[in-house]
Amino acid sequence: MQQAPHRPEVKAFFHADTCTFTYVVHEGRAAVVIDPVLDYNAVTARTSTASADAVIAYVHEHRLTVEWILETHAHADHLSAGDHLRDVFGAHLAIGRGITQVQARFKTLFGFGEDFVPDGRQFDRLLEDGDVLHAGVLDIRVMATPGHTDDGLTYLIGDAAFVGDTVFAPETGTARCDFPGGDAARLYASIQKILALPAGTRLFLCHDYPPVTREAVAECSIAAQQQNNVHVKRGIEEVDFVAMRTARDATLAPPRLALPALQVNIRAGRLPPEEDGVRYLRLPLNRFGKS
Ligand SMILES: [Fe+2]
Repeated sequence: MQQAPHRPEVKAFFHADTCTFTYVVHEGRAAVVIDPVLDYNAVTARTSTASADAVIAYVHEHRLTVEWILETHAHADHLSAGDHLRDVFGAHLAIGRGITQVQARFKTLFGFGEDFVPDGRQFDRLLEDGDVLHAGVLDIRVMATPGHTDDGLTYLIGDAAFVGDTVFAPETGTARCDFPGGDAARLYASIQKILALPAGTRLFLCHDYPPVTREAVAECSIAAQQQNNVHVKRGIEEVDFVAMRTARDATLAPPRLALPALQVNIRAGRLPPEEDGVRYLRLPLNRFGKS
C-alpha cells in the first residue's frame, strides 16, 4: 500500500502591494521559504525588508531551520528577498535552470557589463524537471512548468504544490504569457501537468488578485480549477486557450515594477553593486513594453 504523502504546515504571507504570496513550508524543524518579497517603493526608490522580517519572525517563533529559499521563477512584478533571506538564514537559494535564458535576455536589455555573467552563478542551485531537494523529513520534487517564463517551476512538497505563475484563483484564470520567453501553448501543457497531480493535492498560488468582496486566498483544489477556472477548466482545448491568452495579453500593460524587479531578480535578489557608495537601478529608455 502506498504511504499517504506528508502534509507539511504551510504558512502564507500575502504582499498586498504586489498581490504576491510568500510561503514558509515546514515539518518538524525543517523549513523552506518560497518566493520571498523585498519591499520597494517605486516613487522614492527605497527598499525595505518589512515583509521579509515578518517571514523571519515566523521562522524564529516556530524555531525553524530554513534550508532552502526557492524561487518559482524570475518575477517581474516584485523584487525578491531571496538574497537577503539566504544571508539571514544561511540557506541555499535555488531557481530553475531556465533562469540563464532570462538572464541573457535581460542582460542585453539593461546593458549590464561583463561583471554580470548570465550562467546562473548568482544562485546556489539551478533546478531541472525531476530534481529532488531535501529539507529534514521533507522531499521537494521539482516539476518544470514553463510558459509564463522560461524558468517556471512547480515545487511538490508532500501533498502541497507551489505552482508559481500558472493558474490563479479560478475566477481570475491564468498567468500572462507575453513576457520575453513566454509561450501560451507551453503554459497550457504545464497547467495540464499540474491538474494531473493526485486529486487531493493542495495547490498554493503565486498571486491572488481578489475583488474587494473577498480576502486574498492562497490555496485551491485541483477539482475547483478543473470545474471553474475561467481560462482552463475542463473542456477548454489548447487552441482555444492560446487564442484567448494571446488576445488578452495584447491588452495588458507591463507590471508596474517590471524594470526594477527584473534587474534585481536576475541577480538573485542582490541589489546592484555600489558606485560612490550608492546603488543605482537602470532604466533603459524606449526598450521595454509596447510603444
Ligand atoms: Fe511572474
